Amino acid sequence: QEAGETARIGLILPMTGPFASTGRQVEAAVRAYLRAHGGSFGGRRVEVLLRDDTGIAPDITRRLAQELVVRERVRVLAGFGLTPLALAAAPIATEARVPMVVMAAATSAIVQRSPYILRTSFTLPQATMPIADWAARNGIRTCATLVTDYAPGLDAERAFKQRFTAAGGQVPLELRTPLRNPDYAPFLQRVHDAKPQALFVFVPSGEGAAAMKQFAERGLREAGIRLIGTGDLTDDDILNDMGEPAIGVITSHHYSAAHDSEENRAFLAAYRQVAPDARPNFMAVGGWDGMHLIAEGLKRTGGATEGDRLLAAMKGLSWTSPRGPVTIDANTRDIVQDIYIRRVERRDGQLWNIEFDRIAQVRDPGT
Ligand code: DHB
Repeated sequence: QEAGETARIGLILPMTGPFASTGRQVEAAVRAYLRAHGGSFGGRRVEVLLRDDTGIAPDITRRLAQELVVRERVRVLAGFGLTPLALAAAPIATEARVPMVVMAAATSAIVQRSPYILRTSFTLPQATMPIADWAARNGIRTCATLVTDYAPGLDAERAFKQRFTAAGGQVPLELRTPLRNPDYAPFLQRVHDAKPQALFVFVPSGEGAAAMKQFAERGLREAGIRLIGTGDLTDDDILNDMGEPAIGVITSHHYSAAHDSEENRAFLAAYRQVAPDARPNFMAVGGWDGMHLIAEGLKRTGGATEGDRLLAAMKGLSWTSPRGPVTIDANTRDIVQDIYIRRVERRDGQLWNIEFDRIAQVRDPGT
């Protein structure tokens, strides 16, 4: 690459369609990062080329990735809102020898699909194990599971059951809701009738409010069934709209907008500059950290963008994220991070995920 040329980053996200909130969150965070840190790293100016893959068609994601590397000569592929979309792009990254930074998708196996993939989001098993342990330690003996029926949901279902039953718990009912146009009511009615002590839920970002509404309307709380889950359920993007039924829900996750740190305050301030009316969620922090990883990689190569060099420069990096300390494991290329146990509480008239316990430096158990 010539001196003076920009380093192009192909950012592929669902900007329209049912998962547009993920695209909006990640894109705003990437823009916020560049605005807060200047657009040049290692002397190389960065240029972001945003593409909307609509969130539901892997072949579109694959075609966009192909066009970006061949025609636009991007030096990094980034984004990837859902697992099937990340999997579709993986062979393109391998073939083109272009690093691929997964900022959102969270199925464990993704990083194994290409040696060029690095991940700054999280994995479902990583986020699920701590809440399974918490449930077993806090007097819950029977817990049903309800997950969205695709790869990350199956990861969550498996990790929860394995961990919870190993601690002596029982999973009497395992339910899977469709990814497209889900209706949670009949599933929650079955949970109501089975009367477990608790229900564990994983639904993708954006779906939590609908699941929460049906949990309340079916009377599960009155029936004494506790609601727990990964933090995808009590997503900061929509948490405030959930109202009363969300209060007291316990989840485990890697990021809460209420996280108390200098780095998080700086992130919130930078995000506000770009999206004044929105609260960043766990998707946004994946985008911010993904951009940070690329920026630090460029600094380490002195601005060189040759794929294998840039990849090597990004492997093994550690930093203090708005979520807490993180490392991109040099061997697995996956993120190692603290997972927090949080309770939804009302503070100053707003709902927040308040962290009250922390499990340090959790790795994905699959890698
Ligand atoms: C995935 C998507 C989500 O919105 C989420 O919250 C977790 C995982 C995914 O498709 O990998």
